[in-house]
Amino acid sequence: MRVRNIKNKNDILKNSNYVIDDPCLYKGKWNTLFGNNYKICLEIGTGKCSFIYEMARQNPDVNYIGIERIDTVLALGIKELNNKPFLSNLLLINYDALKIEDIFDKEIDTLYLNFSDPWPKKRHEKRRLTNFRFLKKYDIMFLSDKKIIMKTDNRELFEYSVVTLSNYGYKINDLSLDLHSKEDYNNIMTEYEDKFSRKGCKIYMLNASKSI
Ligand SMILES: C[S@@+](CC[C@H](N)C(=O)[O-])C[C@H]1O[C@@H](n2cnc3c(N)ncnc32)[C@H](O)[C@@H]1O
Repeated sequence: MRVRNIKNKNDILKNSNYVIDDPCLYKGKWNTLFGNNYKICLEIGTGKCSFIYEMARQNPDVNYIGIERIDTVLALGIKELNNKPFLSNLLLINYDALKIEDIFDKEIDTLYLNFSDPWPKKRHEKRRLTNFRFLKKYDIMFLSDKKIIMKTDNRELFEYSVVTLSNYGYKINDLSLDLHSKEDYNNIMTEYEDKFSRKGCKIYMLNASKSI
């Protein structure tokens, strides 16, 4: 995602009640921050946070954490969240998921990967969030069964992910090659989903799980 720098991004992040500055301190203890034992769902690459905010708003008895590695993107999202009611079941982290094993330990219920960067070049394959390198890193963060829900407009990334997840032992429980044509699907749109579906792109979705 290319965005113009915003000057006061550090202040926005520092002053936000959503942002956790030193996430490593809470490894294995995220429930203490939320102050309850509700399940915790995570979105990696949360962008401007509209999906994770809406999930948290609609599901007050579930805790949500969004991770975004680009500070400017997260700051832009927080600027928008500051105009909305505060949600105590949402936390945000400015962090690279490459080091995810440093911040979670057996505490995540479901991982959402929405419109992850496709990294189409073969030499960048390791950067895809459904590459084996990442799937391996995710292992220790799940509390029990590993659950991943993914949406994308990118057919190549989608097919790649079906293969890597399956080869890594995940079972594909549900899969759609045109999510928006499914009338019964209770879908919360992301920023990219809104943008690409307006352009007529099909939205692919999968729901995968792996028992411990
Ligand atoms: C294409 S955007 C999609 C944003 C949002 N999920 C949506 O659907 O509108 C992908 C986002 O993932 C973030 N991202 C990519 N790799 C990441 C990583 N390793 N750790 C954290 N965030 C990452 C990018 O910075 C970017 O903001």
